[in-house]
Amino acid sequence: MQKNPQSRIKKFAVIGDPIEHSLSPLIQQAAFDELNIKAQYIKIRVKEKDLEKFITKRATKLNGFNITIPHKEKIIPLLDWIAPRAQVIGAVNTVLQHNKKFFGFNTDGDGYILSLPIQVQKNLKDMQVLLIGAGGAARAISAAFLQKGVKKLCIANRKLNKAEKIQKDFAKISSKNKLMTCALESTTFNKQLQQANLIINTTSVGLHGTSFENFDWSLVKKTSFISDIVYNPLITPLLKEAKKRKLKIHTGEGMLVYQAALAFELWTGQFPNTQLMKQVMLKALTPSGRR
Ligand code: ATR
Repeated sequence: MQKNPQSRIKKFAVIGDPIEHSLSPLIQQAAFDELNIKAQYIKIRVKEKDLEKFITKRATKLNGFNITIPHKEKIIPLLDWIAPRAQVIGAVNTVLQHNKKFFGFNTDGDGYILSLPIQVQKNLKDMQVLLIGAGGAARAISAAFLQKGVKKLCIANRKLNKAEKIQKDFAKISSKNKLMTCALESTTFNKQLQQANLIINTTSVGLHGTSFENFDWSLVKKTSFISDIVYNPLITPLLKEAKKRKLKIHTGEGMLVYQAALAFELWTGQFPNTQLMKQVMLKALTPSGRR
């Protein structure tokens, strides 16, 4: 008997709660379609209390899925295998299903690095990075930088103890003196502002038009890159200030695109057209295309 053609279509999803505004279906579907891969990528709202049920039931029918807030950490004990990087970070954003076994990965940090200008990627070993924030995104990006090998990384956070927790958790992937921490707006922070070649905001500051107070721009090197992982708005208050001062800026859409591309590659073995994915995403973010 001939199989139902629907069953030959590969199925993928992004899960989270809330999930309504996720751009992942749009960018992943564009990549599948361009490569003529018969696949459907949908969004599924999974409440925290239903995560285990999702894994045992619906997830077995998916070839793979992405995970967003609030499940990235809680999904770990429910999976069969976790990639070493995801283990260090303590969060998974991509799952591959094979024979009802679930394999967890984290592509956020490498996605961020791939989104950086090529001259920065080529010179990581000479880069002194000041990363602001100590949440999930900060953990993923820091782990990637440390494993790829930067000259120095300083994690600055409002609550210093959260940055120190990352330093402790990452002791085994970081050689001595590579990773340091400081409190936002401290003397050490200001010293780091003077030394950094790349300053990254991974906090939610900027999301709703908010900005950092007491950020001493006069200390920032003229050659520094200023980067923000917030992509809506694309030009955050931090980037607006940086532009005013003629500093080089790096916007947040690339991280979403490249973490998605790396997930796509894990599922299909093919690296997708990231230019197309970016175009689709930017179109959705413009006022006329906003959903
Ligand atoms: P993620 O989305 O990366 O998982 P998160 O876990 O929600 O982020 O963490 C948010 C980050 O934004 C934290 O580093 C937080 O700082 P604290 O740990 O000190 O709370 C930071 N953050 C949020 N609002 C901030 C503000 N007004 N000023 C400075 N940092 C702020």
